[in-house]
Amino acid sequence: MGRIAYVNGQYLAHGAASVHIEDRGYQFADAVYEVWALFDGRLADPDGHFTRLNRSLSELKIDPPMSREALTVVLKETVRRNRIREGLVYLQVSRGVAPRDHAFPSPDIAPSVVVTVSRVDRAATEARALRGVGVITQPENRWGRCDIKTVGLLPNVLAKQAARERGAVEAWFVDEMGLVTEGASSNAWIIDANGTLRTRDAQSNILRGVTRTTLIEILGLEGITLSEQPFSVEEAKAAKEAFITGAGSLVLPVVTIDGTPVGTGEPGPMASLLRRHYIKQAKASSI
Ligand code: PDD
Repeated sequence: MGRIAYVNGQYLAHGAASVHIEDRGYQFADAVYEVWALFDGRLADPDGHFTRLNRSLSELKIDPPMSREALTVVLKETVRRNRIREGLVYLQVSRGVAPRDHAFPSPDIAPSVVVTVSRVDRAATEARALRGVGVITQPENRWGRCDIKTVGLLPNVLAKQAARERGAVEAWFVDEMGLVTEGASSNAWIIDANGTLRTRDAQSNILRGVTRTTLIEILGLEGITLSEQPFSVEEAKAAKEAFITGAGSLVLPVVTIDGTPVGTGEPGPMASLLRRHYIKQAKASSI
C-alpha cells in the first residue's frame, strides 16, 4: 500500500495530493507547521506540539482549522492509513487559498490543512547517535520572529545545504555577538569546559523546541542543573560535550563543530544518557 496524505478533509494517494496554486502557504509562506516524532504508531510530546501550534496560529491571526480533539483524530488516522509505526508526522496549516494579495483576504477564508507521515529507520538513527554528528556554523540571517514555527524556512534550507556540502548534519546559526542561536532544525546545547550544561534561553529569537522543553523537565527530575545562557562558538568548540534536540534528531550528540572535535571527538556520556531518558519519556507521554 502506498503513502497517504490528508488534504483539507480528504485522505489521498500521496503522489496525487496537492494544494491550489494560490494557496498562501505556497505564495507567501503564510503558514505554520508542526512535526511530531512517532514511536510505535503514537505521537510523542502531544501537548507541547498542540500548544505551540495554537500559539503559532494565533501569532499569525489564523483561526485554528479544527479542535485539538478533531486534529488528533486526523493525525492518528493519517498515521494508521500509512501503516507507519516509527517516523515523523508533518502538519501544515496555511491561511488558505485566495487571489494573490499580500494583506489578509477579507472576509476570512478557510485555512488549508495538510498532514503527511514519513518513515524513520530507528536502527539507522540509533547507529548515527552512537557515532555522533558534525555541525557547521553560519551567520544568523533569519527574521526576528523565529519563535513562530512558520514554513518560511529559506535561511534554514540554505544553511542545511551548506552543512551537507561540508559533510555535516546540522548548521548552527551564530548572531552578531558570536553567540549560537540554534540549529537550522534543532536547538543547540553544550556542556561547557566548566561542566555546566547550557542552552540558549527561549525568550530570545529562537524556536522554543518541544524536545527542549521536555528535556528541561527531565533535567529537573534528574537533579541536573541547566544554565539557559547563550554560548559562543569558541565556548562550544572548547566544550566537553555538545548535542542538538528536535523532533527529528531527538537528542543527538555533536562530535565536531566546523571540523573541530568536541571533547574526545566521541559522543559524550551526558548526551547519550539524555537521549535514552528523552526517548523513554517521549514514549511514555505518546498518544
Ligand atoms: N524542526 N529550532 C528550529 C529552527 C527547528 O526547526 C526545530 C524543529 C527545533 C526543535 O523543535 P522541536 O523540539 O519542537 O522539534 C528548533 C523540525 C523538526 C523540522 O523543521 O523538521
